[in-house]
Amino acid sequence: MTYHVPVLLKESVDGLAIKPNGVYVDVTFGAGGHSKSILTQLGAKGRLYAFDQDEDAFRNALDDPRFTLIRSNFKYVKNFLRLNDVTEVDGVLADLGVSSFQIDEASRGFTYRVDGPLDMRMNQYMEKSAADLLNSYTKDDLVYVLSNYGEVRNSKSLAQRVIEKRVKTPFRSISDLTEVLDEIYMGSKPKYFAQVFQAIRIEVNDEIEVLKKMLQQCADLLKIGGRLSVISYHSLEDRLVKRLMKTGNVEGVLEKDEFGKSQNSLKIINKKIILPSENELSVNSRARSAKLRIAEKM
Ligand SMILES: C[S@@+](CC[C@H](N)C(=O)[O-])C[C@H]1O[C@@H](n2cnc3c(N)ncnc32)[C@H](O)[C@@H]1O
Repeated sequence: MTYHVPVLLKESVDGLAIKPNGVYVDVTFGAGGHSKSILTQLGAKGRLYAFDQDEDAFRNALDDPRFTLIRSNFKYVKNFLRLNDVTEVDGVLADLGVSSFQIDEASRGFTYRVDGPLDMRMNQYMEKSAADLLNSYTKDDLVYVLSNYGEVRNSKSLAQRVIEKRVKTPFRSISDLTEVLDEIYMGSKPKYFAQVFQAIRIEVNDEIEVLKKMLQQCADLLKIGGRLSVISYHSLEDRLVKRLMKTGNVEGVLEKDEFGKSQNSLKIINKKIILPSENELSVNSRARSAKLRIAEKM
């Protein structure tokens, strides 16, 4: 089984405009597809630091003296780089979301297509799994997660059904959840199931909050002329990336000084969002929701 096929590989790495002796960061290592490509453009003095919070990704670690793989959530990117005596970098690449390996591996519980434990933790050492979430959240919290992170239309009815079911038997497996969804889905079944799974995954991994922290820190870490290249896979992620690049902060509020001069230190490089080509989509259907944005520090 292929661990992961890199998405928008050339476009996102070209977006970094790599300097051979520069310091680069890949905050989402996965199978290292983007990292390998960055290393091919780095000279002997270049450095690449990569992050992944998933232990399984470490089997893909690259044997290269210019490369360091850090097992951590990327929300700590600044701290871990500082531990490596790095306080500024020439470029950061982020390829958000989960890898194909994580989706395909039934024991990780990310997909509704095969039965397995209802897990969905990217970091196997985190306490709260998807089952814990479904067994403990209040109805209001479930509605919040389902409607905000998955745009699930009948989130109230689904939350109610989850609560009724867990009183009888707690959620443990994917099939415990898909049985409920089978009874209640609206519209297209695959779309509905994907929306519910996306919502739960985002909450289990606190994806929105950690993304905000990482983006803001990366904007700070970049040297002048440094590049940020981010691939996102759903509108909640893309909105934050767009806000950061347009205003310099994830709140999306453009601050100006007393003379009306913008305080945003980022300049958008691709005015038009970059999408996978027809050719890429024909060989890798998992690239279909990918969107690439690139910015440079001024
Ligand atoms: C889409 S895959 C990256 C694939 C990689 N670019 C490649 O070509 O092989 C995303 C990876 O980022 C990791 N990841 C996602 N969110 C993370 C976070 N907050 N901190 C650290 N790693 C994260 C996941 O565990 C997964 O391995």
